[in-house]
Amino acid sequence: MTSMELRKEFLDFFESKGHKIVPSSSLLPSDPSVLLTTAGMQQFKEYFIGQKDPQKDFGAKKIATCQKCFRVKDINDVSDASHHTFFEMLGNFSFNDYFKKEAIEFAWEFLTTKLRLDPERLHITIFEGNELVPKDEEAKKIWLEKIGIRQERIKEFGMKDNFWGPVSGAGPCGPGSEIHYDNGQEFSKNKCTIKGCGPNCECGRFVEIWNLVFTEYDKQLARDGEYEYKQLKYKNIDTGMGFERVLAILQNKPSAYETDIFFPIIQQIDKQIAGLYDVNPKPYRIIADHIRGACFLIADGIVPSNLDKGYILRRILRRAIRYGRVLNLSSDFLIPLARKVIEGYKDIYPELGDEQDNIISVIQGEEEKFNKTLEKGLKQFGKLISKISVEQTGNSKIISGEDAFTLYQSYGFPIELTKELAKEEGFEIDEKDFRRALVEHQDISRAGVEKKFGGHGIEGSKIKNDKIIKLHTATHLLHSALRQILGNEIRQMGSNINEERLRFDFSFDRKMSVQEIKQTQDLVNQKISENLEVKKQKMEYKQAIIQGALAFFKEKYPDIVTVYSIGDFSKEICAGPHVEKTGEIGKFKIIKEQSSSAGIRRIKATIE
Ligand code: ALA
Repeated sequence: MTSMELRKEFLDFFESKGHKIVPSSSLLPSDPSVLLTTAGMQQFKEYFIGQKDPQKDFGAKKIATCQKCFRVKDINDVSDASHHTFFEMLGNFSFNDYFKKEAIEFAWEFLTTKLRLDPERLHITIFEGNELVPKDEEAKKIWLEKIGIRQERIKEFGMKDNFWGPVSGAGPCGPGSEIHYDNGQEFSKNKCTIKGCGPNCECGRFVEIWNLVFTEYDKQLARDGEYEYKQLKYKNIDTGMGFERVLAILQNKPSAYETDIFFPIIQQIDKQIAGLYDVNPKPYRIIADHIRGACFLIADGIVPSNLDKGYILRRILRRAIRYGRVLNLSSDFLIPLARKVIEGYKDIYPELGDEQDNIISVIQGEEEKFNKTLEKGLKQFGKLISKISVEQTGNSKIISGEDAFTLYQSYGFPIELTKELAKEEGFEIDEKDFRRALVEHQDISRAGVEKKFGGHGIEGSKIKNDKIIKLHTATHLLHSALRQILGNEIRQMGSNINEERLRFDFSFDRKMSVQEIKQTQDLVNQKISENLEVKKQKMEYKQAIIQGALAFFKEKYPDIVTVYSIGDFSKEICAGPHVEKTGEIGKFKIIKEQSSSAGIRRIKATIE
């Protein structure tokens, strides 16, 4: 079965069972509490918790999708047989419609009759229960009695394996039942013979292919700062099948890299260095995975930068470029690969075709930029390693934060790349020290609560000055206004206030247009004229983040923080002080918009 056929089989099957087919949402979630889309259920979060009505919005309470997902946490496992950064998730969802019995029956029918997987190779896991959520006897009974699975092929696991979600600390979640496929002992890395070898054994023989989640809880932070699991008003179903994993099984391949979705990319790499894939697949697989992920991220509007989503994109592109060096590929090897990705996916995901030129030019830009420094950086790294080898003895060989920072700052090495290079040589990095160097460089961590927890660079002696307080509140308004006008992508990179003006640095990749500057200024002035109340509240850091408060460098915050809210327009963790009502600020005026450094813009503004 081809990849095209598999997507269609799945969606057709669930359509025939009364599901509405809904397109994949973007990799950029609308929910600001998560960085990227990591599961099919994310676009339906509000329907799970009953805030929105699926019948009204989709005309159905049963939905099926093929969702684009990106999981950064799996990046280091990429190149094994079952993990990718970008992947597709096939899912069926029920909002207060069918529950466990039907979800299990649908999954079984699809796998055994549509995909014709051998039932003898399918193994089941269920939730074993804990003090908060009971063991899933109901699911077990359905598998035993309705499906006829033998007792010994049903295993029980805890929270880590059989309880899913929520995606970001809080939200819909529930116990799950997984279906694992037994690839046979030849897939086991060390021909594992341990007695417990079965689902979740790390030997590689079993692969989880489908997760059926019985979403009946809403995990929320309680008043005492602990989490609690509240029963949702309805019972829901959220399932996720690993498209690439199932495709590899159906095409009888060791991994997705040999299937029709990846192999054209692998072959394109092999055009330059024929025949090495079988000998050394790791670099090929990493390159193929990362270029595919990069194309999809760019198609959804992400550009490489040193922050958040942009940093993830930069990190995978630079890691792919570095592995290109390992294989001795030419310096512009990524472009033909990107074209292959676009060609392979554009009929299913038209955004890849629509954004083709942009995807190519972004990758080209990043490739050119990194090529300029990679060689020198690798040399520098080599020197460093020899120097440390001479100076340091014993087992632990540590690269200092300063040195890692130089590689980051002067040679564009993401810290994770340096870490990977270091590991290959048996070295470690002092990451804490690296973060310190990073923060110091950004000039925000020098003494004073203001700088540390407000990030607004006001000198202690001046914080009582009226104008400075007004400018401080204006800075919060400006920050929110910029997010509204330019998009939530923008991040505060620095802030400084004196009696004359405020200065605000933020991540953004181009000059603002005259119109955008005016819109921002107008929006701030509008909020001033609304005379909004500025409210100060102390709360747990976790809670502040869940409530969407903007933070600067989260690892620097104490457990209890102060949050300033301005109407419902702005919410930031900050030590103050601020005006009581925005009307006190006066007239806000942007005096300059300029570049601060690569990817960072600077606004200077004043009040009259
Ligand atoms: N949301 C579930 C998962 O991602 C189905 O595994």
